[in-house]
Amino acid sequence: MAQSTAVAALLGAAGTAFIAPGSTRPSTAPALRGASPVDAGAQGSSAGLAGTAALASLAGVAMAAAAGRKAGATSCRAAAVKKKGVKVVHGKEIPWNLFSPKAPYQGKVVENDFHPQTLTQPTGDANWETTHVTFDHGGKVPYIEGQSIGVIAPGPDKKGEQPAKIRLYSIASSAVGDDQTSKTVSLCVKRVVEVDGTHANREKGQDKPDKAGTAYPDNKVYRGVCSNHTCDMTPGDEVLITGPTGAEMLLPTDPEANIIMLATGTGIAPMRSYLRLLFHDKAGASSDGGRKFKGIAWLFMGVPYSKSLLYDDEHQAYTKAFPDQFRYDYAVSREQKNAAGQKMYIQTKMAEYAEELWELMQDEKTHVYMCGLKGMESGMAECFGPIAEKNGLVWTEFAKAMKKADRYHVEVY
Ligand SMILES: Cc1cc2nc3c(=O)[nH]c(=O)nc-3n(C[C@H](O)[C@H](O)[C@H](O)COP(=O)(O)OP(=O)(O)OC[C@H]3O[C@@H](n4cnc5c(N)ncnc54)[C@H](O)[C@@H]3O)c2cc1C
Ligand SMILES: NC(=O)c1ccc[n+]([C@@H]2O[C@H](COP(=O)([O-])OP(=O)(O)OC[C@H]3O[C@@H](n4cnc5c(N)ncnc54)[C@H](OP(=O)(O)O)[C@@H]3O)[C@@H](O)[C@H]2O)c1
Repeated sequence: MAQSTAVAALLGAAGTAFIAPGSTRPSTAPALRGASPVDAGAQGSSAGLAGTAALASLAGVAMAAAAGRKAGATSCRAAAVKKKGVKVVHGKEIPWNLFSPKAPYQGKVVENDFHPQTLTQPTGDANWETTHVTFDHGGKVPYIEGQSIGVIAPGPDKKGEQPAKIRLYSIASSAVGDDQTSKTVSLCVKRVVEVDGTHANREKGQDKPDKAGTAYPDNKVYRGVCSNHTCDMTPGDEVLITGPTGAEMLLPTDPEANIIMLATGTGIAPMRSYLRLLFHDKAGASSDGGRKFKGIAWLFMGVPYSKSLLYDDEHQAYTKAFPDQFRYDYAVSREQKNAAGQKMYIQTKMAEYAEELWELMQDEKTHVYMCGLKGMESGMAECFGPIAEKNGLVWTEFAKAMKKADRYHVEVY
């Protein structure tokens, strides 16, 4: 059998390998991701989970946005007309670019203090700081788990532009927000600080202490325009938001899906949003007192130092509360080594469980989510190449087939 045929046979026909939203495959459990206002009726009693409140308000917000552009009535009446603020993904509507860079939403910062909200501790590196910042969007920027928003900093930008161009950030809160009001959105933002590097926007003597107290007055320094703006925000400050956007990292609707998550650094953001929904929010609770999610969620997290282990407290809490459903492994690259003395990267850690992960990936209900550094993709090939070969397959072909079946979700940068 040719490689690609073998892979297809293993995974099932593309598009049927997982229960895509809108699929007619029967399921007794409630769907993981919420039904859109359009097809809520068709889903019957199978009330959706993620983004329910967000999506309920979506039609209203999209209409209001469209009405503002004097197109509301037409776009709401005629199904054939493309709706503003909405994208159809696998037959479901999701919020989409309700706010553009030219007409952003003006939100307010709710929380962004150095202690205790800042997640990381000084490591000695200039760019040690990562913050968890929460904005109030008043319910006007609905989103679902796995999407991103844009932030517009006042600038000046790299070429002096004011305001600066938008920077995208993966959303770190679930659709209902950290406070479960559906009116807030949280981000996990790393402060870019480069000392005596290729670029500088502070000459010697110009760098002042940031909100965390870090400063390099004796050096040429480049401070990232938007990340420094965001990390330095104070509750009550105004923030310009665009989006939401992104359809690559959405959760499957099947509550029995298994979810393997691979995150390096701030790539943890979308994973946090999933985990809040699966194991924390009221929206994810089932009527029997358990969770709507019935599968396995396995997180692999890669960071340079143990002081940079983002959201570790939350992961430890899920491990305790859901030992049969949540697995958590991390690779601390500058503190740990594997048995062969190699630097502990996420793929080095995964290699310890290669057989188990490979088996899990053969299940049509298993999805892989990867977010963070680009190098992780080749890392996966290193990890699973040998085991794929043992099974008569080529990893890249296998990964391609998983992607085609919408089971392999990659957002790396
Ligand atoms: C889909 C997506 C999701 C993302 N999610 C997150 C997230 O959740 N958290 C997060 O922290 N980040 C995330 N990012 C990255 C984020 O968008 C920003 O790129 C990051 O915060 C840096 O932006 P900045 O404005 O601070 O830095 P910038 O000011 O844009 O600087 C970035 C780099 O540009 C270099 N530079 C400066 N001047 C020049 C020049 N003249 N020519 C060439 N290079 C120059 C600098 O040396 C620096 O390394 C995401 C990116 C994408 C695409
Ligand atoms: N949706 C998105 O696209 C999205 C969302 C969030 C973040 N991001 C991007 O993800 C990146 C995260 O960076 P960060 O600064 O937050 O991370 P970080 O804290 O520096 O952590 C990254 C970790 O990955 C390790 N690493 C380096 N090369 C690797 C490789 N080839 N394979 C596996 N691991 C490797 C690093 O090890 P060493 O440094 O010790 O070598 C470190 O331990 C940023 O570029 C950010 O823009 C993208």
